[in-house]
Amino acid sequence: MENLTLTRPDDWHLHLRDGAALKAVLPHTVRQFARAIVMPNLKPPVRSVAEAEAYRDRILAAIPPGQPFEPLMTLYLTDNTSPEEIVAAQATPFIKAVKYYPAGATTNSDLGVTDIRRCDRVFEAMQEVDLPLLLHGEVTDGDIDVFDREKVFIEKHLIPLKERFPKLRIVLEHITTSDAVEFVRSADRVAATITPQHLLFSRNILFKGGIRPHFYCLPILKREEHRLAILQAATSGNPKFFLGTDSAPHGRDSKETSCGCAGCYSALHAMELYAEAFESVDALDKLEAFASFHGPDFYQLPRNTDQITLTKTTWRIPDELPFLDSGLVPLRSGEEITWQMV
Ligand code: NCD
Ligand code: ZN
Repeated sequence: MENLTLTRPDDWHLHLRDGAALKAVLPHTVRQFARAIVMPNLKPPVRSVAEAEAYRDRILAAIPPGQPFEPLMTLYLTDNTSPEEIVAAQATPFIKAVKYYPAGATTNSDLGVTDIRRCDRVFEAMQEVDLPLLLHGEVTDGDIDVFDREKVFIEKHLIPLKERFPKLRIVLEHITTSDAVEFVRSADRVAATITPQHLLFSRNILFKGGIRPHFYCLPILKREEHRLAILQAATSGNPKFFLGTDSAPHGRDSKETSCGCAGCYSALHAMELYAEAFESVDALDKLEAFASFHGPDFYQLPRNTDQITLTKTTWRIPDELPFLDSGLVPLRSGEEITWQMV
């Protein structure tokens, strides 16, 4: 049997939710990953050091006994975040970054930033104390085509932001376009996370044989040429690109409805999905650095020392997992996958 043994990976972009949902999904992440950057888009969002500490305690309490896992917390940036909160965050060992959502861009982003220039005092403080800024890099203007929102964000907001704060460390999260790849490659102190769905699928999957809500996430899947560009970036060995699943659980009833939520669930089988993507371009030898080295290096954290093993064997991804009242449909549910973490 073919085995692939890797340094244990970390997930640098993850939604864990709270309460019963947190308890349902956390064991999947803990099985594969040692650490995760936990997104702050709860209802209400995690906006202060005190809220991040309380959320971290709830996560720690939900970890299955005896399994080591380290949640790395983030603060949700709003129009009202103060530079003082940034200094306090930097002094808190478990807070690793601040997350920017444009108001209204995605799930639970109502309290996000209305105009990025309003946050310049906060970015100044972040640059000063060297606390990374994580970007949901999409504009929200209704008159911009949904498939162009990442590209326009880069041109209109990110390039000027980088000019104003050249030393600020930035992660452009869940990149989906060749434009993002190009920007990240050329910009100093900028990295990017890449999800399994954006490596494996183009936007065609959204309409294959009918409308398929479980492939709908934000930023939305793009054309094949963009998928190929991010697959090339992920498998290039360039340390600016690393793993971030953006696993984002929503119950079946809130996905399969007239106005369904954005988010794909991949925590169950994330490493298997990434292995398939890397294998598709004969780059399995690049998976370990992408999944286990580039992230901690960017965040200036030690690399993990234990290992995981994936075996070449075919299994069927479940149709549904237990989750609240309505079940959770994992990415590529019901389909076969050719790697399995043992
Ligand atoms: C995320 C969620 O559900 O919280 N959804 C998604 O489609 N990625 C929010 C986000 O990261 O945009
Ligand atoms: Zn996300």
